[in-house]
Amino acid sequence: MLFSNAAQVALSLLVLNAGRVAARSLVPVRRSGSSNARRAEVAGLDLQSMATFLWADEDGDVAIANLTIYMPGEAENILSMESFDGMTKSIECNPDTVAITFNDDATFAYAQKVWDWVNGVENNSFVSIAGPGDCGDNENRKPFVVSTIAYDEEANKATLAAQWSDWQTVAHTYDLVVGSVAQGPMAKRDIEKSTSIDFNHDLPFSFAVGANGLNAAIACTNCSSTGQFDMEFKLSTKFFVPTGASMKLSPKGVSAIAQVKLSGSGSVTDSLTKEFEIIAIPIGGLNIPGVLELGPFLTVSVGAELSAISITASVTGGATAKLSDHALLEVDLLDPTKNTFSGWEPMIDTVDVKVDASISGGVAVFLKPAIELKAEALGQGFEIGINMKIPNISAKLAAIASSEGACTNPGDPKTTLGVSAGINIGASLNFAATQSGATDPLFTVQLAALDLPLAAVCFPFGDPVAAPARRHSRQISHM
Ligand SMILES: *[C@@H]1O[C@H](CO)[C@@H](O)[C@H](O)[C@H]1NC(C)=O
Ligand SMILES: *[C@@H]1O[C@H](CO)[C@@H](O)[C@H](O)[C@H]1NC(C)=O
Ligand SMILES: *[C@@H]1O[C@H](CO)[C@@H](O)[C@H](O)[C@H]1NC(C)=O
Ligand SMILES: *[C@@H]1O[C@H](CO)[C@@H](O)[C@H](O)[C@H]1NC(C)=O
Repeated sequence: MLFSNAAQVALSLLVLNAGRVAARSLVPVRRSGSSNARRAEVAGLDLQSMATFLWADEDGDVAIANLTIYMPGEAENILSMESFDGMTKSIECNPDTVAITFNDDATFAYAQKVWDWVNGVENNSFVSIAGPGDCGDNENRKPFVVSTIAYDEEANKATLAAQWSDWQTVAHTYDLVVGSVAQGPMAKRDIEKSTSIDFNHDLPFSFAVGANGLNAAIACTNCSSTGQFDMEFKLSTKFFVPTGASMKLSPKGVSAIAQVKLSGSGSVTDSLTKEFEIIAIPIGGLNIPGVLELGPFLTVSVGAELSAISITASVTGGATAKLSDHALLEVDLLDPTKNTFSGWEPMIDTVDVKVDASISGGVAVFLKPAIELKAEALGQGFEIGINMKIPNISAKLAAIASSEGACTNPGDPKTTLGVSAGINIGASLNFAATQSGATDPLFTVQLAALDLPLAAVCFPFGDPVAAPARRHSRQISHM
């Protein structure tokens, strides 16, 4: 029978609803924290050569992002306004000034003493960062550059000439760390409180595979994924040149299960290959306005490969693939020779294959989860992808008819018909990194590739063979 695959295969797919998670904005963790009420130290007014800014989840006390900015030059400094919480009566932000009125003479005098450095030398300037709420109701931190200051002794007021700016312009030298990766197993914790990529998804599907002479369907009876991927992203620059860009990734409780059933009737001689996306969702992205955008995206496809199939009923089978919590990938985005990874080989558990009538041919069904991670920070961007095929269940089936007994393994009941099955469970994991805007990946890494042949099995059915002259074993089976 001649058969043109693409044109004549009728396919339909049932896609069930998958959840959708919006990106979360991280909130600044004020440096003074809850110790606000304590006596403020005037040293908080000192100009600094470095400053750290933390961000956490909405209700979080656990910092998720740490941006440390360095100002090592002689004519530059940095000062977070969050470090003089409790010392001021009022702060007034205008388009080109920030006016600060201090609580008392002593604090004002101290500020004047340490800040006058900026007036002393023409070129001196410092970067200041208004904290959340410092300029009225601003939710985000706002950087500005100060090059002169005027003082009102009567009012204990300093008026800073402010040139409002953005993080990307002011931060020439910094370390940015986002997220964290625990090494090895750890206590279960709230995914919402971290940068983890949620991998808990139900993956139901069913689709018809119809062609001239074949009327079949592949349906999932139990397909899902569990767990999370923890990640950490680090970026460093020195005078606007990236000196470090790295990522760590580790699975926690990650598994994927696929139990599928192929049923129908008929036969085709050709090969049919089909792949469908069953979900495509953004999963819990993060952003810090002006600093960072992190957008994880999950797609899961299901694929089926049928070759020279001839079927009268159904075949079911499945497997579970689990990743060890010890698996760790450390990627150096600037120097791939420093990439390291270990422990990604999945542990495979098979679910019994069952054949309930005559079938022959080759069948493979696989789940293909893929995580795309886009990280954009202070003008640097990377795209990172993990592509998995877990699990890939494939069977080579042969229908047997024999008056002597189709299945010949010891213990097999002697029947006239049977199907022998050679089953393979496979899995593969790959990792790729791309610089944003580029088409070719910076590099790809194969984390694991596995092909596990199981012992051949035979499924007897049909009539018992006619009683032979020899003594006949009444034993039905021992499994
Ligand atoms: C923030 O990062 C800096 C530089 O990497 C580090 O020295 C500091 O300890 C970090 N702070 C916190 C609270 O994580
Ligand atoms: C001030 O900046 C100018 C231009 O960048 C430079 O030529 C000059 O040497 C600087 N002066 C001092 C005192 O640093
Ligand atoms: C799906 O498979 C998992 C793992 O084998 C099992 O624990 C669970 O009971 C199964 N669920 C159904 C509905 O069969
Ligand atoms: C699934 O496994 C079979 C048998 O090892 C192989 O021929 C097939 O290419 C695999 N499919 C995928 C998508 O890896």
